[in-house]
Amino acid sequence: MDWAASDLGERDLYKLLVNTVLPRPIALVTTIDEKGRANAAPFSFFNVFSHAPPLVVLGIEGRGGATPLKDTMRNIRETGSFVVNLVDRTMVAAMQVCAIDFPSEIDEIAAAGLDTAAGAKVAAPRLAASPVQLECRETVSLSLGTRHRNLVVGEIVHLHIRDDIVDERLHVDIDKLDLVGRLHGADWYLGLGDRFQEPRRTLDGWRQRERAPIPKGEVS
Ligand SMILES: Cc1cc2nc3c(=O)[nH]c(=O)nc-3n(C[C@H](O)[C@H](O)[C@H](O)COP(=O)(O)O)c2cc1C
Repeated sequence: MDWAASDLGERDLYKLLVNTVLPRPIALVTTIDEKGRANAAPFSFFNVFSHAPPLVVLGIEGRGGATPLKDTMRNIRETGSFVVNLVDRTMVAAMQVCAIDFPSEIDEIAAAGLDTAAGAKVAAPRLAASPVQLECRETVSLSLGTRHRNLVVGEIVHLHIRDDIVDERLHVDIDKLDLVGRLHGADWYLGLGDRFQEPRRTLDGWRQRERAPIPKGEVS
């Protein structure tokens, strides 16, 4: 089947996109408001966008009614910074508590039973349980589409990776990292269990193979 995107309603676009573009990494984003109150919420319209400069992107939807911005977006506007805390398997239940639509005055980090640590460069706290915490300064936020949707671009200004996960040569042990990604539907997630390796080809290697085709059935 195929569709012009403009023929699909908002709900159908959401259904088709979040159930096909997957898995998506999850940022449990911590921020503070102008009074210094901390907030945490998960976002899977998220990715690292480039390494030089080191940028992340977040897609933050609006919410209707009297408070059109999610607390995370409002806090980023107020303070210009945030922390991306990557989510491992041990943090999934706490992450779901942070996704509850709490009123702003409720401390969802405490409700989720998560401990915090001070940021090195930004005012927002880090989540101590997270294996990778990226302190970010907002570079630009674009208000796109309807209903106060925002695309936030943030520059990573400080990285924290748990000591047992990375060594002095910057080799990362992804088994110890044990991150989860978001799958389809509202509630499906996956771990890093199913992996395979496919070596990158070079032009020379490809030319050699073209001259001597691989016999049928041979595994390269
Ligand atoms: C795994 C997961 C991923 C989510 N991803 C997004 C997202 O990318 N964008 C978004 O606007 N909301 C997303 N949400 C919903 C927000 O986390 C939720 O609206 C939250 O209450 C916002 O909190 P805040 O008002 O404290 O910012 C996600 C929820 C879950 C559980």
